[in-house]
Amino acid sequence: TQVCRVSSDDSASAASSMEVTDRIASLEQRVQMQEDEIQLLKSALADVVRRLNLSEEQQAMGSRRGPTKGNTPHFYKHFSHFFCIIKQQGRQVFYSSRAFVARKGGAAKVSTVRKTPSFNLQLRKSGSLSSYSPLDTPSYRSPIKSPSQYFQICYVKMYLKGRPITMYMPKDQVDSYCLEARAELPSNKLKLDWVYGYRGRDCRSNLYLLPTGETVYFIASVVVLFNVDEQLQRHYTGHTDDIKCLAVHPDKITIATGQVAGTSSDGKLAPHVRVWDSVSLNTLHVLGTGFFDRALVCLAFSKSNGGNTLCVVDDSNDHVLSVWDWQREDRLAEVKCSNESVFAADFHPTDSNIVVTCGKSHLYFWNLEKGMLVKKQGLFEKQEKPKFVLCVTFAENGDAITGDSSGNILVWGKGTYSSFIERTNRISHVIQGAHEGSIFALCMLRNGTLVSGGKDRRLISWDNSYQQIQTVPELFGPIRTIAEGRGQTVLIGTTKNFVLQGSLDGEFMSITQVDGHTDELWGLAVHPWKPQFLTCGYDRQVCLWDSSSHQLIWAKNMDDAAQSAGFHPSGSVVAIGTQTGRWLVLDTDSKDLVTVHTDGNEQLSVMRYGPDGNFLAIGSHDNYIYIYAVAENGRKYSRVGKCSGHSSFITHLDWSVDSQYLVSNSGDYEILYWIPSVCKQVVSVDMTRDIEWFTYTCTLGFQVFGLWPDGSDGTDINAVCRSNDKNLLVTGDDFGKVHLFSYPCSQFRAPSHVYGGHSSHVTNVTFLYDDGYLVSTGGKDMSVMQWRIV
Ligand SMILES: *[C@@H]1O[C@H](CO)[C@@H](O)[C@H](O)[C@H]1NC(C)=O
Ligand SMILES: *[C@@H]1O[C@H](CO)[C@@H](O)[C@H](O)[C@H]1NC(C)=O
Ligand SMILES: *[C@@H]1O[C@H](CO)[C@@H](O)[C@H](O)[C@H]1NC(C)=O
Ligand SMILES: *[C@@H]1O[C@H](CO)[C@@H](O)[C@H](O)[C@H]1NC(C)=O
Repeated sequence: TQVCRVSSDDSASAASSMEVTDRIASLEQRVQMQEDEIQLLKSALADVVRRLNLSEEQQAMGSRRGPTKGNTPHFYKHFSHFFCIIKQQGRQVFYSSRAFVARKGGAAKVSTVRKTPSFNLQLRKSGSLSSYSPLDTPSYRSPIKSPSQYFQICYVKMYLKGRPITMYMPKDQVDSYCLEARAELPSNKLKLDWVYGYRGRDCRSNLYLLPTGETVYFIASVVVLFNVDEQLQRHYTGHTDDIKCLAVHPDKITIATGQVAGTSSDGKLAPHVRVWDSVSLNTLHVLGTGFFDRALVCLAFSKSNGGNTLCVVDDSNDHVLSVWDWQREDRLAEVKCSNESVFAADFHPTDSNIVVTCGKSHLYFWNLEKGMLVKKQGLFEKQEKPKFVLCVTFAENGDAITGDSSGNILVWGKGTYSSFIERTNRISHVIQGAHEGSIFALCMLRNGTLVSGGKDRRLISWDNSYQQIQTVPELFGPIRTIAEGRGQTVLIGTTKNFVLQGSLDGEFMSITQVDGHTDELWGLAVHPWKPQFLTCGYDRQVCLWDSSSHQLIWAKNMDDAAQSAGFHPSGSVVAIGTQTGRWLVLDTDSKDLVTVHTDGNEQLSVMRYGPDGNFLAIGSHDNYIYIYAVAENGRKYSRVGKCSGHSSFITHLDWSVDSQYLVSNSGDYEILYWIPSVCKQVVSVDMTRDIEWFTYTCTLGFQVFGLWPDGSDGTDINAVCRSNDKNLLVTGDDFGKVHLFSYPCSQFRAPSHVYGGHSSHVTNVTFLYDDGYLVSTGGKDMSVMQWRIV
């Protein structure tokens, strides 16, 4: 149409008016430029082929010269510009680092190192191609006089789930940084110092007193041996995932523990039993790897034959019951126990060929005869059959005693079930309605007193003719397990994850200070100048802990599930972010509510005050960062604005040392910078790459990119924290591991010390105020672990 005509007329007239020679010259120039580019591509390709051939050859020869040889990206430094590109996609890691070098006249040299045959040319220009010149190649000594006139920039590019993440190097590292340098392991290590928590909510018979005076129980994948008098904990850490059951050998030294199937970063972990020595903490035997399915739910040592056999029930559909000679790691017998839940399995005290199991609608007496487990059902006869038989123990005369979901205690006379020939397995005594509701635990004390506990939170003792002696009304939750304590004391574990000690005629106290969270745990905040930290989670509980005495300072219940927390730099208040968009500020000393606000209606993943205490930044799942001005030492808040720019939810944020800037990471791996006082995004690399950050909790950034493992999908590192002295970096991952790195962590796949203990995602990690300890939270395992830095 007209426009076309006009423009074609224009170009025609332009062509006619243009000097032909000029036009040819211009075309020649373009051809030359294109040839340059083609040359560049060709040589790059040739280089790739050559190196591929080389690496294939090396692989074929199986020659492994050093761990990363051949994969190490070379690092090239240009006179005016330098960069490296690293790709990480799915499980495969692409390393690619290349330098484009062009001299006047179009001669180009491209060096590329790759691990995989994929080619993706990327060139970052600063000025024209002809201005490039390498510093590190003597034959290409630079003709350029003043480097400062060029834009010197280096970045690392990493790919997470196919998204490129560009991380810029601070200016002052440009000259000294070498990508090929091997990162060092930190000289410090971690030692598990304290485990806060006990798993009572869904595990049974998991609390005992040992002759060493230690109380033994577990949480997550750690067995805790806690000496209450000396306030000392030791830990058995041989397990790799959740422990679900524990048994103490009649020698009171040997312990067996069973774990669930788990996943690690290198694949599946099989459920198994570990038998270990509680004095030395040495593992003696590992049983059943490859045999058990899903998890182990019940474990017991035999009593009468020197404790030589161990019975185990797994969590497969058939709940297989197996009996083991644990010292020879030999399975003596196995049988499908029940297609329904099994809650307890135990050997008869005087006949090690008899095992009793109970669970949903069953009570079985098993007799081990010639390698076979032969079943006899418990006959309820006139007694109404309970929905669940929940626990079993034995009287000194060999009678079996069960507790059930109807609140009844039934006694099964030994004579009625031990002889499989003539007699049947009958109830010899009934305590009808011993408890209101389910009886979860029964314990026969040394002196013949029977103690029962259950859903009604009461502890009742019975004499040897099953007459009630005493009742202790209980306050700390339904009773999950009962064990004999020292002297006249009794130990109790509750479904609210408390461990209590007390006497049958007196008060019970949470002497162990093991009172834990009862739902997923996320929020963790460190007091800025005291040995204290705060945890909060989906159980709506906020707990302030003293890390030196390991005691709970206070706990407070909230209306909403908590997600995040941050202390004001004065330490006088702490802000708690919830899952509903509501956030509140509590007085640290009195736990009184200072203020409540709401921003959006989604979970608030980060609460962080600026180091000068004048601003609070709140990162939300609604993609915004809300900024509040803070006055009166954390008592007054007024909204400054909301920073919008992220295209996904906010995961982490940090303040600059001067409180002028914020950096934030999001769910789709963006790194954005902000001037929070005006809620303005800063895009200039020159302005942001040299900012000194007061904290480093962002998982993406030049100083920390080395923490990303091979093949990461970007979601497996949940939390990062730099030590206050800036020498160490700790991370928490999805495989229950805490990793300790050196800081800065700017070499690929930096090495780390790795620590297990948690059995669920490590949701947060943080150094305490003086760097002497760090604390990690285990998400669904509900545990808080305190690690000493040694
Ligand atoms: C690969 O290496 C082999 C052995 O060194 C050599 O013979 C072959 O020509 C090389 N191939 C290419 C494409 O460079
Ligand atoms: C277990 O088996 C019984 C009888 O064979 C059946 O009625 C019941 O539904 C089964 N339960 C499960 C959980 O498979
Ligand atoms: C048995 O032991 C418990 C706890 O140790 C105690 O409370 C009770 O009085 C004792 N009973 C008898 C009969 O000695
Ligand atoms: C994790 O811990 C850090 C350090 O205390 C804290 O700033 C951050 O808010 C915590 N994350 C969550 C989700 O609470």
